[in-house]
Amino acid sequence: MYSSKITGLGMYVPENVVTNDDLSKVMDTNDEWIQERTGIKERRHIKKGDGNSTASMGVKAAKIAIERAKIDKDAIELIVFATLSPDYYFPGCGVQVQDLLGLPTVPALDVRNQCSGFVYALSIADQYIKTGMYKHVLVIGSENHSGGLDMTTRGRSVSVIFGDGAGAAVLSRSNDDTKGILSTHMHSEGQHAKELAMIGPSTEYWVPQIIEESTTATDEDITYYPYMNGQFVFKNAVVRFSEVIMEGLEKNKLMPTDIDMLIPHQANLRISQFVQKKFGLSNDQVFNNIQKYGNTTAASIPIALTEAWEAGKIKEGDTVVLAAFGSGFTWASAVIKW
Ligand code: UT7
Repeated sequence: MYSSKITGLGMYVPENVVTNDDLSKVMDTNDEWIQERTGIKERRHIKKGDGNSTASMGVKAAKIAIERAKIDKDAIELIVFATLSPDYYFPGCGVQVQDLLGLPTVPALDVRNQCSGFVYALSIADQYIKTGMYKHVLVIGSENHSGGLDMTTRGRSVSVIFGDGAGAAVLSRSNDDTKGILSTHMHSEGQHAKELAMIGPSTEYWVPQIIEESTTATDEDITYYPYMNGQFVFKNAVVRFSEVIMEGLEKNKLMPTDIDMLIPHQANLRISQFVQKKFGLSNDQVFNNIQKYGNTTAASIPIALTEAWEAGKIKEGDTVVLAAFGSGFTWASAVIKW
C-alpha cells in the first residue's frame, strides 16, 4: 500500500494590508470589537489592478509548493482546487491553474466545500495517491473574498472577518506507510446550508431577479452577499471541531497529548482557543495566524500550515492534525505523520 506525503508547501497573500481602523472608515465598526470577538488585527485584500485573482494567487502559491517538492511541474498529474470565490461562475479555477502553470492536459477538479475545502481536497488527493493512480497531486485553496463582500455597515458582521489569499501543497506517493497522511475524516449537514451561505447569483436566484429585487430589498433580502448566522455557526463549530479532531485521534489510537501541531481552520481566534483548552494543548501545539490574515476560508489551513512549517514549528516525525468547519455545514480533519 502506498502512502501520500506532503512534499511541498507554498502560500501567497496580496500586498494590500487592510487594518481594522481602515474598515472603521467605511463602516460602523472598530478595532476593539473586531479584536475582542475574532482576534483579527488585519487582513489582505486584492487591490483593483494588482493582477491578483483566485486562480492567479493559487498559481503563485503552487509554484512555491512545486519548487519545494523538488519536482518538475510537469510531474503533476492532478490539480484539486478548493474555493468558494472562483473567478468565474463556471468553469472552476482548476483549469485556469492548468493553463497558467503551463501543465500538460492534466485533469483539474474543483471542490466546493468552503472552509473545509482544503481538507476535503487533501482527502481526495490522498485517495488517488493511495490507490496508485497518481504520483504527484497539486492541492490548492484560494479565496478572493474582498471581491464579493458588503463593505457597508449592513455587512459588517461578515465583512470584517474575511480576507484574501492562497495556499498550496504537493502531495506525493511514498512507500513508507509509517509517515504521511494517516487518515482523513469528512462530514456534512445540509439542513444548515442557509446559516452560512451566499444564495445568489444562482440558478434559483438569477441576476435579473436580483437586480429587480435589490431596488426594493430589505436588509434581510440581500442574497448576493454572504450571510452568516454568527452565533449559531459558532456554537456548531466548537462542537464539530472537537468531534472531528477526536475522530482522527481515535482512528489512529492517539491521545490529544500526542498532537505536536494542531492547525485549525482560522475561523475565529475564540474558536481555536476553545478547542485548544478542550484538548488541554499548549500554545506551542496550536498554530494561529488569523490575527494577520482574517478568515481566508479554503486558503486558511494551507497558509497556516506553510507558515508553521517555514517557522520550523513542524519537524520530521511530528503528528500534525488539520481540522476545519464551515458553510454547508461541512467539517473535516486530517491526521498526518510528518
Ligand atoms: O469560517 C466559517 C465558520 N465561521 C465561524 O465559525 C464564525 C462563527 N461566528 C463568529 O465568529 C461570531 O459569531 C462573529 C464574530 C461573527 C460575531 O460575534 P458575536 O459575538 O456572535 O456577535 P453578534 O453577531 O452577536 O453581534 C453582537 C453585536 C450586535 O449588536 P447588538 O445587536 O448587540 O446591538 C451586532 O450588530 O455586535 C454588533 N456587530 C458589530 N459591531 C461592531 C456586528 N458586527 C459588528 C462589527 N463591528 N463588525
